[in-house]
Amino acid sequence: MRLTDHEKAMLDGSHGAAKARAMDLLLRYGEALGAERLVETNNVAGAFNASTPSVRALVAKGFDAVYSELNLDSTEVVEVPRMAVNTCQLITGIDNAKWRIQGISDDLAEQQKRGEAFFGRRGVNMHATCTPYQVGNVPVKGEHCAWMESSAVVYCNSVLGARTNTEGKESTGAAALTGRIPYWGFHLDLNRRATHLVEVGIPVEDIMDWGLLGYWLGEIVQDEIPVLTGALVNPALIKLKHFGAAASSSGGVEMYHLPGTTPEARSVEEAFGGRPIADTLRYGSAERRRAYENLNCASERKIDFVMLGCPHNSIEQVWLIASLLEGRRIHSDTALWVHTPRALRDTAERNGYVRMIEEAGGVVMSDTCPAISRHLPKGVRTVATDSAKQAHYLPAITGVAAWFGSVRDCVEAAIAGTWNGTLQ
Ligand code: F3S
Repeated sequence: MRLTDHEKAMLDGSHGAAKARAMDLLLRYGEALGAERLVETNNVAGAFNASTPSVRALVAKGFDAVYSELNLDSTEVVEVPRMAVNTCQLITGIDNAKWRIQGISDDLAEQQKRGEAFFGRRGVNMHATCTPYQVGNVPVKGEHCAWMESSAVVYCNSVLGARTNTEGKESTGAAALTGRIPYWGFHLDLNRRATHLVEVGIPVEDIMDWGLLGYWLGEIVQDEIPVLTGALVNPALIKLKHFGAAASSSGGVEMYHLPGTTPEARSVEEAFGGRPIADTLRYGSAERRRAYENLNCASERKIDFVMLGCPHNSIEQVWLIASLLEGRRIHSDTALWVHTPRALRDTAERNGYVRMIEEAGGVVMSDTCPAISRHLPKGVRTVATDSAKQAHYLPAITGVAAWFGSVRDCVEAAIAGTWNGTLQ
């Protein structure tokens, strides 16, 4: 790869051992990808903590050792300097305040807190959410980023028009110290053009509809780039968040275009970048029903656990849940966890929403989610969720059965302790 003089200096150790290890990693990574050069980035979203039992031995050697091995792929332990660019922590495995409810030990929670203190002082902003764009990390159109987490990546590329590949713990670790990432994939104009036209023949209105559309679409286009037309009603942040998360779960969609809404294509023709339209897909009632049936794998109607907030809830969604719960009581055999970024939890607390949810018997969590932490309430067999992504992953990861439905279906299931959701 071609390197600038500054990059060469980082590689030869003139800027310290950590940056040299980071440049070495980026060089190996970029060459494996066939990248010709690196590109500057000032926006990194990665995983910089140590919240699993498997890293205890490494933590015992100190957090420099943790970063060296997990974020720089280096057996040589280097001292971690300040992050060179704007860097944030994505979701973690542990809620820093509610770990006991998760069933996590005090010493593991303590380990995460010590890790956060170490990395926080070095400039990693502890947003601790899979939705950094909901708490102030909003890159502009065309900005080169280095983000992990599939639902965040597809939002970044599609809705914000910023540019990122789905990075890993190591490449984000190296990018945070150097401000560089290989220039390939979604950083290049050529790779951001549509490959499939999708004609949506039925109105897609609420979060559940957008989740079903995304789930159906991802399964078909896998990691290609769809452009969608039709009755896509009010495609607001919370709907696009669910749509992208679903499409990146059933397939590997990292980018899509909605002419008139997303910033890189004002028309279908522009989305295809002048190329002929190769493949046209149609979405109607039968496809919607198929997605719903694929997601609803449970048979037992008794609900042990309701999870709301994948991707993490916006404040608007927390308010809706609190409103639906006000003055009511969750079934004594059912747990309800509502997940939102910690910064938004503070607002929800200030507004009284947290209290409304807690008075009904629910728990408002931050920093984590069940699919990432692999911690659910004890003895759970059947889960209800409004998230296609969580309904897709929880059965595979934890062995539970899942029902998928609207927020209202899920809240009613938490109150009744049984699933009565249907596809209208
Ligand atoms: Fe976020 Fe966990 Fe869902 S990381 S997108 S809440 S699976």
